[in-house]
Amino acid sequence: MIYLGSDHAGFELKESIKENISKKGLKYIDIGTDSLKSVDYPDYALKVAEKVKEDEDEDSFGILVCGTGIGMEITANKVDGIRAALIYDEYTAEVAKEHNNANIITMGGRTTTPTEALRYIDRFMSAKYEGGRHENRISKINSIEKLNI
Ligand code: RB5
Repeated sequence: MIYLGSDHAGFELKESIKENISKKGLKYIDIGTDSLKSVDYPDYALKVAEKVKEDEDEDSFGILVCGTGIGMEITANKVDGIRAALIYDEYTAEVAKEHNNANIITMGGRTTTPTEALRYIDRFMSAKYEGGRHENRISKINSIEKLNI
């Protein structure tokens, strides 16, 4: 399952991502927003992060879009167990999965074209988490979460 969310600045890119992933037969849940009316990105980042956290299927992930992808990334990473990565080219799309095992990707609706977004999503989805040395680093992230500082 792919959980999608955006604010007003990411709305149009989210809609185009939605259209394309549904053409590919991929399942998604769109948690909003549903128009260009101004909203606050943390509300949507939290909803998607909660859905991703609850979903036990390791192939499930979230896509969050705001103006730059930054606000969505910052907010989603406040939720325990979420590894949200801002992707802005094919390399970052690939290593977000291979090294960071990201479970949410974020993008900028004002910085990313629909064609680019689809290429990045394809690259993220076809990459595999490499584990190994990266697993130790992700364990350290999990330990930091538990410190509650
Ligand atoms: C909204 O204008 C904009 O600040 C927001 O979409 C996002 O880019 C924040 O990170």
